[in-house]
Amino acid sequence: MKLIDSCNRILNYLRISITDRCNLKCQYCSPRHLIPKLSHEEILSYEEILHLVRIAVQLGISKVRITGGEPLIRKGVHEFIQELHQVDGICDISLTTNGVLLKDNVDALIAAGLHRINISLDTLDPEKFMKITGVDAFDRVWEGIQKAYQAGLSPIKINTVALRHFNDFELEDIARLSFAYPFHFRFIEYMPIGMSEQEMSDSLYTPEIKQRLTDRIGELIPVEHQITDGPAERFRFEGAPGEVGFISAMSHHFCHTCNRLRLTASGQLRSCLLSDHQEDLKTPLRGGASDEALSAIFLNAAKMKGVQHGLTADMPVRVSGQMSSIGG
Ligand code: 5AD
Repeated sequence: MKLIDSCNRILNYLRISITDRCNLKCQYCSPRHLIPKLSHEEILSYEEILHLVRIAVQLGISKVRITGGEPLIRKGVHEFIQELHQVDGICDISLTTNGVLLKDNVDALIAAGLHRINISLDTLDPEKFMKITGVDAFDRVWEGIQKAYQAGLSPIKINTVALRHFNDFELEDIARLSFAYPFHFRFIEYMPIGMSEQEMSDSLYTPEIKQRLTDRIGELIPVEHQITDGPAERFRFEGAPGEVGFISAMSHHFCHTCNRLRLTASGQLRSCLLSDHQEDLKTPLRGGASDEALSAIFLNAAKMKGVQHGLTADMPVRVSGQMSSIGG
């Protein structure tokens, strides 16, 4: 049995949140007032996650991405990646990080078997960075990106959530970096997930960003879509070694190509980032359920995967889970 949903989408990609904790407090992701954090017992141990990954591989999962919260703050992450690397059938391991702890981790991550990395960076201005994240860490992130580049991780993807009244006039500066670096700069539409201080009216959608970049920099030349690309639409400017991309979850659903399942830090399996439906894996796992019973839960999550999520640019409602525990 393989993870194929009711729309015949083959689910081969599992995103695993290993912690709901983060060393930044981005205003669009977690509210500054405290959200209760999961206790150590509530989050899955690495052994538990590996057990579930081995089951998932039998069902067709071959790619995994490690997310958080901020995955680099969880102890033992290198050893965990090393173990993942040894799971037969996993051919791609990637990680999403805010980059704050990247500089000192890059070498160990590569040695452990990490293939690819995505780094979140919403501004090039250290003061604005402090404003949106609550922490004065722009320089550390930038050094982490440079270190990842020098160490040879490729491609390096930089994720920027586009927000009006915050980074709207910087997006072209970020896009221009594609002339200097072979990175993929990806502009992400803000999605209303969990409690956050972000106003929907600050959302900036892809058509407007594309227009700005075309007017101010030049033609966006499409880059041929690869099967491994995920939801980003890819482009480059004439002569640039890097790329710019757009992830338009709100203005242009890409659900028909979605190949993902998500395992939250607390052991819940979600088949859509933007739907609150989830299947509990942790309780049966800890209750001694057989691998067959756990496989059945994976298959059920695949069956429950919606045709497409219900959020649109005109009618945004809020998804109740927190991004920090679902893992983006
Ligand atoms: N909408 C869009 N993107 C978000 N991210 C976090 N919260 C949101 C949101 N509500 C981004 C982060 C990170 C990636 C995992 O998702 O910036 O790059």
